[in-house]
Amino acid sequence: MRNILSGLILICLCLLWCGGCSRTGADSRSVSFDKGWKFTLSTQPGDSTSFSSPDFDDSSWRDLDLPHDWAIEGSFSEDNPSGTGGGALPGGVGWYRKTFTLPASMKGKCIYVDFDGAYMNATVYINGHDLGTRPYGYASFSYDLTPWLKPGENVIAVRVDNAEQPNSRWYSGCGIYRHVWLRALDPVHVAQWGTFVRQDSVTPDNARLTVLTNVENTGDKDVKAELTTSVVDADGKVVASVASPVELSPKCKVEVVQPLDVVSPSLWSVKTPYLYTVVSEVNVDGVTVDCYETKTGFRSLEFDAEKGFSLNGERLKINGVCLHHDAGALGAVVNRAAIARQLRILKEMGANAVRSSHNPPAPELLELCDSMGMMVMDETFDMWRKKKTSHDYARYFPEWHERDLTDLVVRDRNHPSIIMWSIGNEVLEQWSDAQADTLSLAEANLILNFGHGKDMLADKEAPMSVNSLLTKKLADMTRELDPTRPVTAGCNEPAPGNHLFRSGALDIIGFNYHDDWFKDVPKNFPGKPFIITESVSALQTRGYYRMPSDSMYVWPERWDKPFYDESFACSSYDNCHVPWGNTHEGTMRHVEDNDFIMGQFVWTGFDYLGEPTPYGWPARSSYFGIVDLAGFPKDSYYMYQSRWRPDLDVLHLFPHWNWKEGQEIDVWAYFNNADEVELYLNGESLGAKRPEEGSYHVSWRVPFVPGELEAVSRKSGREVKRDVVRTASEPYAVRLTADRSEINADGEDLCYITAEIVDNKGNVCPVADNEIEFSVEGAGKNVGVDNGSPVSLEPFKSDKRKAFNGKALLIVQNTGKRGDIKVTAKSAGLKSGDVTVAAR
Ligand code: GAL
Repeated sequence: MRNILSGLILICLCLLWCGGCSRTGADSRSVSFDKGWKFTLSTQPGDSTSFSSPDFDDSSWRDLDLPHDWAIEGSFSEDNPSGTGGGALPGGVGWYRKTFTLPASMKGKCIYVDFDGAYMNATVYINGHDLGTRPYGYASFSYDLTPWLKPGENVIAVRVDNAEQPNSRWYSGCGIYRHVWLRALDPVHVAQWGTFVRQDSVTPDNARLTVLTNVENTGDKDVKAELTTSVVDADGKVVASVASPVELSPKCKVEVVQPLDVVSPSLWSVKTPYLYTVVSEVNVDGVTVDCYETKTGFRSLEFDAEKGFSLNGERLKINGVCLHHDAGALGAVVNRAAIARQLRILKEMGANAVRSSHNPPAPELLELCDSMGMMVMDETFDMWRKKKTSHDYARYFPEWHERDLTDLVVRDRNHPSIIMWSIGNEVLEQWSDAQADTLSLAEANLILNFGHGKDMLADKEAPMSVNSLLTKKLADMTRELDPTRPVTAGCNEPAPGNHLFRSGALDIIGFNYHDDWFKDVPKNFPGKPFIITESVSALQTRGYYRMPSDSMYVWPERWDKPFYDESFACSSYDNCHVPWGNTHEGTMRHVEDNDFIMGQFVWTGFDYLGEPTPYGWPARSSYFGIVDLAGFPKDSYYMYQSRWRPDLDVLHLFPHWNWKEGQEIDVWAYFNNADEVELYLNGESLGAKRPEEGSYHVSWRVPFVPGELEAVSRKSGREVKRDVVRTASEPYAVRLTADRSEINADGEDLCYITAEIVDNKGNVCPVADNEIEFSVEGAGKNVGVDNGSPVSLEPFKSDKRKAFNGKALLIVQNTGKRGDIKVTAKSAGLKSGDVTVAAR
């Protein structure tokens, strides 16, 4: 108890001087350092290292709290150097400064600043001293401030440089877009990310663990310490404990190895994500000098070349989606509530896994996956030595890859949600020679999947190529740091001559798309488990339908021919996809019909900023999502739900029912748990249908007459579910619906408010584009608006937004105060809408 108390006192001290913010970060000993920064966007020659000087007068700079992304505040322009592939938003150089005073109680402590991520090239200065530059915009990094701190005021300054673009194939964001933390520690402490709770074997009877702990002495005296490691269950009960002596010389780090058994553990799974806390206490002369917590969960993973994947001995398809890191209208800004919402929407669909494509994720994503029961493929890089865009990470790879890979694995390896590592996505080292860097960003995005000649593959007889050796190096490094999880890579060359495969170093064969190659995997890679690291790339605009629905639109036709269609939209029937991809149903069939396919990661769960394939400007965000940029599901969402949620009766009827009289309309329904669906138009049956062999939907071709279209699904004649669409009349009102009626009064939590344009009977007007003006009063503020359209050039930071196909979104953030948040939405000629949300 005494030990826990002293840990608490340490944390409380930090809370006091950091202004009372009670959030702790990925490191249980850290306190938020997000509040009270100054910011300026700087252009040459205004960019000057004098900005790092403690004496510099920053009073004219803008006040803000982190995390922050300046690009999302900017305007879309065809001329922004990121290009539409990067979201067509600005780049540049930004400076951040924060002035702070350390309390006397911190004398003698080691003080560290931890950045979860800043995009990119972040140079950190303390009191004018340059601590270093971290190029990779997705890496978490930390500095020891202790030698440079002084009594009284201190100034930390950060220069973030995202001027040289393009450097990414998607929207990166700009700035300190993840959280920043401060850690004040006794000189004798557990190092940052200092524990590895290695799961040597896990069964329902016993979890055999080896806990490896790095204890550090930054002081200048010999120290005899004791490290006690305890496993605490979710009720706070200590279920296993071990103590070991540690002898520390001055300025040294010692790895302590402690075996532990947890008898009859509650296992972590996607249905019951049970978490334990491993508490590491360091004692010196009977006093607890450090107390560090590691959240983890115990589970067993099996990857089998024939039977697929098993979690805790039970077979489970990996029903995954790829996610980029942006949060739509919030840009790259990390917000726990925004990520939780994305995961909630995906879990509701039945997804059980995400791939952090194609970079180290925010710690919050992993923490939420742990607690919500989502499995993760944790990915390092989108390129190695060969670049895909002119200024990308390839130029830093030679110097930084070891450090960036190591930091990712060491930071993340205690998360039970992570089931495998990916050492790269579609790296050009798969081939003997392949270039994308001479192309524009849009071209580079397109060409990657268009096939490479056989002459570019590795020679079977020859010794390992340089590319294969590099693969082996990265895979071996990963396994050395974490021998408990397999290593894969997202390849787009499915042939065994791929240099990455030829290395023999990948535990799991992973390739993207190439559905025709799936069947040959057991023959081409005998004995190797297989995952579809990326699949589908269907293209859809929410609420847009191209008929006839049985025509397939494969867009763009070729990577080197500009693509244009006046609609700037893609059909929401599952009849539009890129040439290297497939329809949602198409790939689903392969996955369901083949046990050896462990599962797939669909490209993508949500739309993201950038890469608006198949279009160019003014399109500026993707069409790939199952859910649009604003978080509104497209129709395919329900196809997945019908296959992935057998526990839920699903019936989804589409499209909307507002067409021209007499027009032939293709009506589709996704459903499950039933044999057939009967369709009724204004009460008259249009017949019952069963899906054709291999199809996951039923359809009818119906001449439009206004009214009510209703579907009824039945199993053995018994009704299972109904769904209905009605012809909407003229827009009459704005209807607001909040995703949560109560949010936390913590200054961070978010509420997502959907605005719908409805007729006088409450039917959504499916093509309405009325402009809506929002006002927010009370304990909340507007932090972004959107409507999910990939071609809207309206700013995300605004009080106004046009509806897109009947809907718009407002994101409200709590101001830190308790109370009601009243949101009102007005639109010319329509009845206003309002909704009230409580912040507690
Ligand atoms: C893949 C690539 C993704 C994305 C996708 C679009 O080849 O890995 O990052 O570009 O294509 O279809």
